[in-house]
Amino acid sequence: MTVSVQVPATTANLGSGFDAIGAALSWHSFVTIEPCDSLVVEVVGEGEKEIARNENNIAVKAVRVFLQQLPNDIAKPLSKGFRLSLDNRFPLTRGLGSSAAARVGALVAANSLLGEPLSVEQLLKIATELEGHADNVAAALLGGIVVAVPTDEGISWARFLPPIEPRIALLVPDFPLETEKARSVLPNSVPRKDAVFNLGRAALLVASLSTGQIDRLRVAMQDKLHQPYRQSLMPWLKQVFEAALDAGALGVHLSGAGPTVAAWCDDEVKAETVAKAMWQSLKSAGVNGFWRVVGLDTQGAKVVQRG
Ligand code: HSE
Repeated sequence: MTVSVQVPATTANLGSGFDAIGAALSWHSFVTIEPCDSLVVEVVGEGEKEIARNENNIAVKAVRVFLQQLPNDIAKPLSKGFRLSLDNRFPLTRGLGSSAAARVGALVAANSLLGEPLSVEQLLKIATELEGHADNVAAALLGGIVVAVPTDEGISWARFLPPIEPRIALLVPDFPLETEKARSVLPNSVPRKDAVFNLGRAALLVASLSTGQIDRLRVAMQDKLHQPYRQSLMPWLKQVFEAALDAGALGVHLSGAGPTVAAWCDDEVKAETVAKAMWQSLKSAGVNGFWRVVGLDTQGAKVVQRG
């Protein structure tokens, strides 16, 4: 028995919704699992030279945690070992949720192979505990736009699809940024006025996306909780944001912890114009990168093959 899962890239925070809001993108990787006599990890595509092929692999760790939660008889087909194949189609350590995709893809594949012993809620809880925050994993698992907050009982989440079909221009700079490093520059506490600034905008963000009042996105994606601090690691950030807005983006934000920048647009032509403007701006700051226009993924992680 083999199960393959398609899992989307994700953009987290959307500016104001730090650690709580995420969106799934139409850019996918694939995770395949099958029972095996020992652990075998295969990686093709992004990260194929660097990614661990042993127990240190984050997707393997996710499967191990998953198996620990099952009675022995249910876990049995995978308890001796498994072959895990990662086909990574979007870049790693760029703020596009590659670790969330690996964990969620592996969890959904293993769960499907064993006849779905765990619920979506349980998978989300495991993935969030491994990831440290819920925004990317919730969007990768559920698709669409997701607000997800951890509670003592599990993750409380709500998912929606906007009534419009935004096109999202992604500018992917040519350097990796570990989330841990991008979190290390954040202060432990913030002024109340900055917290108030963000909570109003995060609420406006959800209201404008869910109703289609997208001319509010410019304000709704503004942030004072993480982007201003992360700018120390990405000095070109402000000028790239300005280039996106000047070229007609509805709103712009750092994708997750960065360094990718996501600019939301109302159509493909505008998104390409915005992407090129951001790329030029990045280049003028002496940093290489590439751009790509995507839409929203509406389904989240899904089984595409069982055999
Ligand atoms: N919310 C997380 C952060 C996302 O901004 O650190 C990391 O991808």
